[in-house]
Amino acid sequence: MTAYAWESPVNAVAYDAFDQRYPTYRISSSRLADEAALAPGERVVDLACGTGATTRQILTRVGPAGTITGVDASPAMLDVAGRNIRAPNVRWVTGQAERLDSVIDTPVDAVVCNMAFWQLTPAPTLSAIARVLRPGGRLAFTISHRLLPPGHPMARDRDGIAPMLQDDEATWVSRLEAHGFTRIRTLALAFEEPPEWLAAWLEVPALGRPVLSDRPGLPAHIRAAGLPTLQRTTYYVAMKPGP
Ligand SMILES: C[S@@+](CC[C@H](N)C(=O)[O-])C[C@H]1O[C@@H](n2cnc3c(N)ncnc32)[C@H](O)[C@@H]1O
Repeated sequence: MTAYAWESPVNAVAYDAFDQRYPTYRISSSRLADEAALAPGERVVDLACGTGATTRQILTRVGPAGTITGVDASPAMLDVAGRNIRAPNVRWVTGQAERLDSVIDTPVDAVVCNMAFWQLTPAPTLSAIARVLRPGGRLAFTISHRLLPPGHPMARDRDGIAPMLQDDEATWVSRLEAHGFTRIRTLALAFEEPPEWLAAWLEVPALGRPVLSDRPGLPAHIRAAGLPTLQRTTYYVAMKPGP
């Protein structure tokens, strides 16, 4: 798999089909939007918005007076997002998180990023986010860990997919502090994913291949794959200093 399997239209459709059927990303997106304390009328960037699972949740909080820019590196994911959500106050922009400030030119109240942060390069991404937030603006993102046995294929850096999965809370907090963020709040929640959801998740190429490519011929059934169903998702909320 290339480092950027997200570029494939087949993957985008498969991801969206998973998202329509199983609530995994809806649950974390909804919680993240709550933790970000989004208010009606706010201007929000949904970073690495994918096919719009998080955007929908943001939209219900900012309402028609708010504005949302969904940014993703994959035009294929954005194409599906644009078909999913048609609202005059939502726009879709192709862009790399690491250069977010090259596609957002008006300061925003919040940047929200669900289930993607570990795929991004932290230092340039955090610098770019700090540049697009207004003083007092918030950054909210999730980091999800499966409770992996040592040596599990997902636990190592494969194809650029998951180098950050092993980083702990203290590491992320110090990265935020190093980029000037304050009022850092974290909330770690356990999430037990039914095996059926996880088996379906593994069928999405960009998600399952890093795990299953080590086990040729293995059906994407969670028990056979040996992938734990227990996850811990940490929600991070931080503020750019200002009024
Ligand atoms: C697991 S999906 C999450 C999508 C959405 N936030 C959700 O909760 O459903 C990860 C997304 O991150 C995007 N992505 C990965 N690396 C990126 C980068 N460097 N810049 C922007 N988007 C990126 C992928 O294209 C993909 O759409």
